[in-house]
Amino acid sequence: MNEIALNGKTFEEIISKEQIEELVQGLSDQINADYKDKKPIVIAVLDGAFIFAADLIRKFEFDHQFRFVKLSSYEGMESTGTIKYRLDLELDVQNEDILIIEDIVDTGITLNQYTQHLASKNPKSIQICSLLTKPKALKHKDLEVKYCGKEIDDLFVIGYGLDWDFKARHLPAIYQLKKEL
Ligand code: IMP
Repeated sequence: MNEIALNGKTFEEIISKEQIEELVQGLSDQINADYKDKKPIVIAVLDGAFIFAADLIRKFEFDHQFRFVKLSSYEGMESTGTIKYRLDLELDVQNEDILIIEDIVDTGITLNQYTQHLASKNPKSIQICSLLTKPKALKHKDLEVKYCGKEIDDLFVIGYGLDWDFKARHLPAIYQLKKEL
């Protein structure tokens, strides 16, 4: 088992670089099929989704605009329950198809608030693509992640853009906090 240490904790690899590539390919195949006749605004959520979004959109075969939004609800390893900072970019989304790219949906608080905010601007559609979801941690059960790479356990993960206190984003695989025995 491939393990790494960070800040005195041990993390074990749960999704290899090759497996991530397969997940990204599978998601882009679905999205290319669904959006082939559309011109969506694709919005990637900073910070964590920047690497996933960079890999995913380079496989897109349909016309689209690409934007970033900055949302954050996490402090260390815990969700604070509210979005602390938003860089909304004054997006005009009225009558537009929107595809949100996120690294991980955990409690769902961040995207629940953000999709409500976008919905108030009357877009044509809003869909979510998230590399990972943690179904056991999800508080907003009605939040639909139409394009989900992989469901994982409710344990903290790092790597491939996901950080712990701004560290570990550079790791090419995804590592999960090892349960202490
Ligand atoms: P939610 O609002 O609880 O769904 O949290 C979403 C955000 O929290 C994600 O965009 C991540 O930035 C962060 N997050 C949630 N779980 C993890 C994790 O296991 N590792 C790193 N960041 C996480």
